Amino acid sequence: MPGLFLSLEGIDGSGKSTQARRLADRLRTQGHPVTLTREPGGSPGAEEIRRLVLEGDPDRWSAETEILLFTAARRDHLEKTIRPALARGEIVITDRFADSTRIFQGITRGDLSAAVDRLHDLMIGVEPDLTLLFDLDPAKGLARATARAGAEMRFEDMGLAFQTAARAGFLALAARHVRFRVIDADAEEDVVAARVWEKVTAHLA
Ligand code: TYD
Repeated sequence: MPGLFLSLEGIDGSGKSTQARRLADRLRTQGHPVTLTREPGGSPGAEEIRRLVLEGDPDRWSAETEILLFTAARRDHLEKTIRPALARGEIVITDRFADSTRIFQGITRGDLSAAVDRLHDLMIGVEPDLTLLFDLDPAKGLARATARAGAEMRFEDMGLAFQTAARAGFLALAARHVRFRVIDADAEEDVVAARVWEKVTAHLA
């Protein structure tokens, strides 16, 4: 694939969605064609699945059922949005990708890593070229996420212990794969944006 595939990951309230928009704008200003997208969602079919997984009671789905739903959404996103944009030579920035399933479904409620990995290999089979991990104290993240509370609160409602396990899991994953860059997200928006820009331009060069 001629394009560049970037993912942004982190716990809820880490600020990655704001930074994804800023990064996309800055790259476009420099003349790069950019597709900015998100998970769960990023294609019409996957956006329908998004509502099923993010709204409602925390106990609505088991972790196993979630693995299937998130992977189904990702497959559609890949077919309809990501692969076509990469084939056009664009920079694809996705707000979350498979690492979110590895963490939120794979390790936070028992160890389901093997199931996540097998399904990923079978149905997805690609990784981003570069992954920015937005790292933040889970209590601060949860406070931010709760402050903007809307209908999509299923994962936030799983609580601080869940987000704390997720943060540790993300950092462990980042230590195992060279595609990760860890960004300290506990700073003002402009400061974090500068940190992001430094990592991305270093990669582009
Ligand atoms: P996100 O859209 O980043 O939330 P927000 O825009 O409110 O910051 O992600 C929504 C939630 O979905 C988030 O709590 C993490 C969860 N999620 C998973 O549990 N597994 C996944 O594979 C993905 C992509 C997201």
